Amino acid sequence: MKLSNRVLGMQESPVRKLVPIATKVKKAGKKVYHLNIGQPDIETPKIFMEAINNFDTNVIKYSFSQGEPILIEAIQKYFMRDNIDFEDDEIIITNGGSESLIFAAISLCDPGDEILVPEPFYTNYNGFTSAVNVKIKPITTNAANGFHLPDKETILNLVTEKTKAILFSNPGNPTGTIYTKDELRMLADIAVEKDIFLISDEVYRGFAFDGLKLISMGTFKDVASRVAIIESVSKRYSACGARIGSISSKNKDLMKNVLKLAQARLCVPTLEQVGAAALYTLDDNYVEGVRKEYEKRRDIVFKTLSEIEDVVCEKPTGAFYVVAKLPVVDAEKFVIWLLEEFDVDGQTVMLSPAEGFYATEGLGKDEVRIAYVLNSEDMKHAMDILKLGLQKYNSL
Ligand SMILES: Cc1ncc(COP(=O)(O)O)c(C=O)c1O
Repeated sequence: MKLSNRVLGMQESPVRKLVPIATKVKKAGKKVYHLNIGQPDIETPKIFMEAINNFDTNVIKYSFSQGEPILIEAIQKYFMRDNIDFEDDEIIITNGGSESLIFAAISLCDPGDEILVPEPFYTNYNGFTSAVNVKIKPITTNAANGFHLPDKETILNLVTEKTKAILFSNPGNPTGTIYTKDELRMLADIAVEKDIFLISDEVYRGFAFDGLKLISMGTFKDVASRVAIIESVSKRYSACGARIGSISSKNKDLMKNVLKLAQARLCVPTLEQVGAAALYTLDDNYVEGVRKEYEKRRDIVFKTLSEIEDVVCEKPTGAFYVVAKLPVVDAEKFVIWLLEEFDVDGQTVMLSPAEGFYATEGLGKDEVRIAYVLNSEDMKHAMDILKLGLQKYNSL
């Protein structure tokens, strides 16, 4: 029996596909520092479990398909901190930002339609779109200019009658780039000119460095009916396993139709929504503390990378990732070698080969993504191991 072309055509996650090798070497006694996956080590605020423990019920009922009112209200208040005003029916709670992205792709596109995405991009965008026969068309960006967007003309030239939306993560995964106000204005103008939608994935919102502040696409009031914002508790509150995210838009027609998809999957787990509602009440001091921690780690990672000869990388200004071009031909082979053949006192590092973050064939082959999700001391240690590994690999 043959499975669908749709599922057979999906790529394996480049972040997870080398995990069996890591598991094997760990079983054999090697310690592996995981810089390959965006799983933060920061403690989830206690308020999450406290809210769940205090939730008094005899029956864990289905929640509303749209989400628990207490969580929707908490997210409304959170957006209002930036003067972004979503009404009650303009927010839908989802199983992580991931489900929001699938809902957005299904609601905006028919099979065969296209979504423009600046590359390198969060690799699961491939999965969310190809599963519903939507094609990603890349807007290529590169390390040399900090992965900022090309000019308007270049993007306009990529739009066809099949293009339904531009999807981007800001702050960027894997790039760590924060778009400027001018770049966002340009995207807004393109959306109006070409009558398309903007899906602004802001799950790393709050993590901006060097005094920069993330500008949410939600602040562009003139294009509000063309914007959907993807949100999540996974990264900001270090609650990846809670699986709570949301999609918000002033476009009521979109939201009415996204709700149909939400109804078809019934609801999001009730208890996690109660915990997430509590997380959204944390004030800006909480995020500021976490942001500072990531900025410190970013500095450690960038310092080591800049000390290694022939590594090309721009200092990232947001999220908790950096893409680096390494002096190797094939980054995936190098990552496997680090796991299988190399160690410093029984310890090694695991990185993500970056090729899978690109849609354009051949790009990213000599690049890796590093997630700085370990404490400063471990991060420094892991980066020193990488430095020694590169020296050894290139002397073989
Ligand atoms: C850019 C981006 N968007 C969305 C997600 C999905 O996150 P979640 O489904 O955990 O909210 C991730 C996870 O790594 C991400 O990096």
